[in-house]
Amino acid sequence: MQRMLSGIKPTGQLTLGNYIGALRNFVQYQDEYEMIVFIANLHCITVYQEPKELRKNLKDAVALYLACGLDPQKATIFLQNDVYEHAELGYIMACNTYMGELNRMTQFKDKVAKNEGNITAGLYTYPCLMAADILLYDPDYVPVGDDQKQHVELARDLALRFNHKYGDTFKLPEPLAAKVGARIMSLSDPYHKMSKSEHSDKGCIYLLDDPNVAKKKIMSAVTDSFGEIKADKEKQPGLYNLMEIAAALTNRQVSDIVEEFKGQGYGILKTYVADVVAKELTKIQERYNAIINSDMINETLKEGAMKASAIAHRKLLKVRKKIGLEIR
Ligand code: TYM
Repeated sequence: MQRMLSGIKPTGQLTLGNYIGALRNFVQYQDEYEMIVFIANLHCITVYQEPKELRKNLKDAVALYLACGLDPQKATIFLQNDVYEHAELGYIMACNTYMGELNRMTQFKDKVAKNEGNITAGLYTYPCLMAADILLYDPDYVPVGDDQKQHVELARDLALRFNHKYGDTFKLPEPLAAKVGARIMSLSDPYHKMSKSEHSDKGCIYLLDDPNVAKKKIMSAVTDSFGEIKADKEKQPGLYNLMEIAAALTNRQVSDIVEEFKGQGYGILKTYVADVVAKELTKIQERYNAIINSDMINETLKEGAMKASAIAHRKLLKVRKKIGLEIR
């Protein structure tokens, strides 16, 4: 069975973008692949997090993984820092990464361009830790949204370089983006991706948003003044984004939705999308409410860390030997 690995960094509440671009696909893949998924908590602290809030976001993220349908019987689910090998291999990867490579990472460049100040060394070297997250497990595929593809490609380059220098050690991973919904855009600014770090909440739907609030966000989403329902991502990005959200959640094609709503007003289409989203959130939140205060969270993480550690430890020993760190 081929292996897949991915993670989410809950620096805030998980979003509909995380769900459509990543989480939902993990659930679909867990039947066909050996699935390893983790909560990237070490990545969270590259930017300051209020500890109490971070703890809540991490716990919510595990509950949401389970509520969205990840099954601990099928998938290995763990917290990144429960497996110490990530940090050590992350450091080793940083020693094999050139600054020029990190300077080219668009996510980092965007942050610097926004001039947010206090950029940490951790944020700069974060792709090295992400490479370690991946390479420890030799996955065949890494399912991610569009914005993370560049980081997976770097992991592949680093694996290739390492194998070349020290002999065959790592499998070369492939990024795998969803066909529909790999880049869900902000509802208030369809030229930017939907993200937890947006300045206003209006453009972003959170998985734990009250479904009525989510509906309102969809109804007030920015569209255009063409007044015609067409699949034109360039000229009508807001409208396209809404159709893509609905298409992903109903397993349809955007072209199907265009056919259904052609000739009708935007309001009717928005109502449809709002209902689809609200229904999905309601389903997820019902399960989340049953899980959040149960033992399931701790049990899942304990079991997951044990399984992941066994794989990661073997790989790290091999790496230490290859590079000459091990003397026993
Ligand atoms: P993060 O937490 O920013 O995002 C988690 C996943 O959600 C996807 N995503 C989106 N997809 C579609 N539309 C959007 N608007 C949207 N926003 C986010 C992301 O592409 C991602 O797949 N560094 C990673 C976490 C990570 C990781 C890893 C992933 C750490 N180590 C190893 C894979 C393998 C991150 O910050 O993702």
